[in-house]
Amino acid sequence: MSDRKNVVLSPDVVEAQKDIIEQIFQINEAFYRLCGVRKKAFIETYGCQQNVSDSEILAGMLSSMGYELSDSKDEADFIIYNTCAVRENAELKVYGNLGALKHKKSKNPGLIIGVCGCMMQQKEVADTIRRKYKHVDLVFGTHSLYYFPSLLKQVLDDSSRVVDVRETDGSIAENYPVVRGDGPCAWVSVMYGCNNFCSYCIVPYVRGRERSREKDAVLCEIRSLAAAGYKEITLLGQNVNSYGKDLYSDYDFSDLLSDACKIDGIERIRFMTSHPKDISDKLIDTMAANDKICKQLHLPVQAGNNRVLEVMNRRYTKEGYLEKIKKIKEKMPGITLTTDIIVGFPGETKEEFEDTLDVLRKVRYDTIFSFIYSKRAGTPAAVMDDVLTHEEKKECFDRLLEVQDEISLEKNEALRGKVMKVLVEGTSKTDENVLSGRTEGGKIVNFEGDSKYIGEFADVEITDVRTWSLIGKIID
Ligand code: SAH
Ligand code: SF4
Ligand code: F3S
Repeated sequence: MSDRKNVVLSPDVVEAQKDIIEQIFQINEAFYRLCGVRKKAFIETYGCQQNVSDSEILAGMLSSMGYELSDSKDEADFIIYNTCAVRENAELKVYGNLGALKHKKSKNPGLIIGVCGCMMQQKEVADTIRRKYKHVDLVFGTHSLYYFPSLLKQVLDDSSRVVDVRETDGSIAENYPVVRGDGPCAWVSVMYGCNNFCSYCIVPYVRGRERSREKDAVLCEIRSLAAAGYKEITLLGQNVNSYGKDLYSDYDFSDLLSDACKIDGIERIRFMTSHPKDISDKLIDTMAANDKICKQLHLPVQAGNNRVLEVMNRRYTKEGYLEKIKKIKEKMPGITLTTDIIVGFPGETKEEFEDTLDVLRKVRYDTIFSFIYSKRAGTPAAVMDDVLTHEEKKECFDRLLEVQDEISLEKNEALRGKVMKVLVEGTSKTDENVLSGRTEGGKIVNFEGDSKYIGEFADVEITDVRTWSLIGKIID
C-alpha cells in the first residue's frame, strides 16, 4: 500500500488556495461595485467524464472567485479549455479553437485565455502552446488543477504568461468547491490515474498513477449529494475495479458500491470504467443483489483477436472476456452492455479484425464507442508498424458500424411497447418542448411532457425506436 501522506494534498495547501480564491473574489467584487457587471468565465471541456468532473471543480473555483459562469465565449473575460489527449482529433480541435481566439484577444487585450488538462500534461504540447500561441496566458497540466487559484492570481497580478506542468504521480484533494451541471445526476470521482499502460493509451502518462479517495470522503460526498436532491450518481475512475487497492486490504469497489446503496435519496448508481481483466465475481454479485445499481455495464473490449489484445497489453483473451460476459448475462438477464473498440491498431490485419466483429455478434452490445487507432507519441504502440492502409482501416470501421447499428436497432426494437422508468434530466437537445431522460440501462428516451417532471422519475411507454435513442409517451 502506498504512503497516503504523499498522495492527499495537505489541508494547509488547500487553505492557501482558498485564501487566494478569496483575494480574487475581493478584486472581482470591487470591479462589480464599480461597473455593475460581473466578470464572466467560459469553460469548454473535451474528453471523458474525468475531465467533466475536473471542469466542475474549475467552475466551483471560478464561481467562488466571483466570476459568473457563462455559456458564451463572446462575452467572457476568462476563457479556459480543459483538453483531452486520447486521440489526435481531440487535440486538433483544441489547436483550432485556440488559434481562433487570437483575433478576440487582439480586440480585447483584457481577455484572459487559459488551457489545461491532459494535453497540457505533455511537456512538448505545453511548449508548443508557449512558443506558437503567444495570446494564451495560462497553461497548466492535470496535476496543477488544485493550484489553479495561485496560477490565475499570478496572471492577474503580473500580466505575465504562466506555464505550470508538474512531473508527479498525481495527488488527491478534498473540499474544493464544485459547481455541477443541471439535473438530477452527479459524477463522483472515486479514484484517479491508471496503472494499466495499454500500449496505445496516453492516459497513464497524463493522469499519473492509480490513487483512491478515502471511502469516507466518497460516501460523505454522496450523502451531501442526496441531501441536495440528486437522485443518480455515477462513480468515476479509469479502472474502478482497482478502487481501494492502494488504501485498504479488506475494502474494495464492491464494498464501496454496497455502502453507497445504503444512502437514502440516491436511487440509481452507475459506474465507469471497468477493466475486463479486473471485473470480479464479487462485483457481478453486488450488482445483481442491489436494485439501486443500474443494470448497465461499460466493459471496453478494444479488439477481438488474442494476438492484438496481447500487443495492446490488455491482459485478457477473447474467450476470457466472453466467459465474463456470459456470467454477467446469467446473473443479470436484460443488462445493457456497452463497449469501446479500436479499429486499425498497428499490425491488425483484416482477418484479425473479423474477431472484433465476432465479439460484437456474440455479445450483442446495446451501443459501442468506436475509434480508429490514433498514434500517441511516447506510447509503445507509436513505434509499431501498420499492416492496413488508412483506407482499409476506414473500410473496417464502416463495417463495424454497419454490424453494430443493426444490433443496436434490434435491441431497441425489443423495447417497443414496454413501459420504462425514466429519470428525466431536462429537455431534449434538439427540441426544447420535448423532455429527455434515461432508462436504468442508460438509454436516452425523448417524450412530450410537462417540465414539472424534470428531476423526477416518470413511467414512459416506448412508442418508437431509433438506433441511438427511444421515443415514448408518458403514462400518468
Ligand atoms: N479507462 C478506460 C477508457 C480510457 S480512454 C478503459 O480502460 O477503457 C477511452 C477509450 O479511448 C478507450 O477505451 C479506447 O477505446 C480509446 N482510445 C484510447 N487510446 C486510443 C488511441 N490511441 N487511439 C484510438 N482510440 C483510443
Ligand atoms: Fe488507457 Fe488502458 Fe488505462 Fe484505460 S486501462 S485508461 S485504455 S491505459
Ligand atoms: Fe482524454 Fe484525459 Fe480523459 S486524455 S479521455 S480527458 S483522462
